[in-house]
Amino acid sequence: MSARPLNVGLIGLGTVGSQVAERMLSWGPQLSRRAGVELRLKKVLVRDVGKRRPIEVPSDLLTADASELLEDSSIEVLIEVAGGDEPMRSYIERAIQVGKHVITANKVVMAKHGPELLDRAADRNVDIYFEAAVGGGIPLISTFRVDLQANRIERVSAVINGTTNYVLGRMASAGLTMADAVREAQEAGYAEADPTDDIGGFDATYKLAILASIAYEIKVRPREIYREGIDGIEPVDFRYARELGYAIKLVAHTQRHTGRVEARVHPAMVPLDHPLARVEGAENAVFVEGDLVGQVLLVGQGAGGRPTASAVVGDLIDLARSIRRGVQSRPSFSFDDRVGVIPIGEVTTRAYYRLRVADRAGVVAAIGQVFAEEGVSISSFIQKDAWSHDQTAELVVTTHPSLDASLQRARERMAALEPVHAVSSYLRVF
Ligand SMILES: NC(=O)c1ccc[n+]([C@@H]2O[C@H](COP(=O)([O-])OP(=O)(O)OC[C@H]3O[C@@H](n4cnc5c(N)ncnc54)[C@H](OP(=O)(O)O)[C@@H]3O)[C@@H](O)[C@H]2O)c1
Repeated sequence: MSARPLNVGLIGLGTVGSQVAERMLSWGPQLSRRAGVELRLKKVLVRDVGKRRPIEVPSDLLTADASELLEDSSIEVLIEVAGGDEPMRSYIERAIQVGKHVITANKVVMAKHGPELLDRAADRNVDIYFEAAVGGGIPLISTFRVDLQANRIERVSAVINGTTNYVLGRMASAGLTMADAVREAQEAGYAEADPTDDIGGFDATYKLAILASIAYEIKVRPREIYREGIDGIEPVDFRYARELGYAIKLVAHTQRHTGRVEARVHPAMVPLDHPLARVEGAENAVFVEGDLVGQVLLVGQGAGGRPTASAVVGDLIDLARSIRRGVQSRPSFSFDDRVGVIPIGEVTTRAYYRLRVADRAGVVAAIGQVFAEEGVSISSFIQKDAWSHDQTAELVVTTHPSLDASLQRARERMAALEPVHAVSSYLRVF
């Protein structure tokens, strides 16, 4: 074991940070033995040093002054588990600038600025580890960087947001409305007070940007990823999905094409026999396909203080070993700027439509004509419930694979037909 300890500065002592500190303070000898060097928590940056904490941290470790970490040259590693874009991006950048290694769980910073920060870190000869930024405790980044590095990654499909998976699961199993399922998720601690980031698909988009960038070694920005949230899905859609042999999931999907990649986040009907259909509650699953390895499925706790701390502290041990050996144990990143993301309209997908229509002759023919004119071939066409009080009926249509632009145009054109009261639901079929 190296005689000199490795000093660590920690930013954040919340859900994740308190578990990171707890592991370092209570399991120090075991971690240090694995790292080959004593890992010493030197300073912890928080907003409010007087706040009551779920764990005991010696008060002299706490500070609300970022310079006490960033300007302390004895701190070699900065762990950032506070979250949000600024000031965390600037803190990470400053740390790199003065030669500190960084470990972060911050998906927003890594999705928006990851490639630039990694480039800067390479220039300064320091490392950035970010296993915890995607999939909490599931080893994803290390799987791509180490275990799958002999592969050309062909596609990655994931259920990677626990909140939406919990909400969709409760709508499916208990017939709850989305509002009730979200309220229940908030009460159970699975959803934030403001759930927009999760429900709107933003969180999954950040994670997919990171995964796709790492998988293909290109710069995939969150803004380039097609994003749709789960609002608008109704309990009845789960009934139809089951009848047709599907579950409804918020899917993050990316796939390699010649010279470009596909990257999208949206709710989708997933065949019941697909592994992603069986991911329940707050669990996450990532399905990877490499040209050499074939298919690999990674499943586990995608969030929570302890699983996320497992990824952060695992990164710390790996990093400590490579610092003390004076070698980078992992390959560094290089990003190809020439590969772009395909606009959603040019991607081939399948669709499910639920329509409320006038219950009279000629409606089905009019709808069929729209599909024919858009070159979309219908896979199933079912007339379900009819309501005598307003002479309307519900139609459910699924299609064969088509250009997404044609499927979206068909939706708009059907909505404009006189006997169509509403296209109540439009989901892609996975
Ligand atoms: N929670 C999860 O399950 C999970 C899973 C994967 C990744 N992550 C990521 O991990 C990070 C932390 O998440 P969390 O759930 O632990 O957050 P959290 O519970 O809200 O804790 C945030 C911590 O950061 C501190 N902090 C926030 N802004 C600060 C600032 N400007 N200066 C100094 N300290 C600041 C807070 O200090 P005070 O305590 O004094 O307010 C708090 O201790 C985020 O990037 C998140 O996306 C979280």
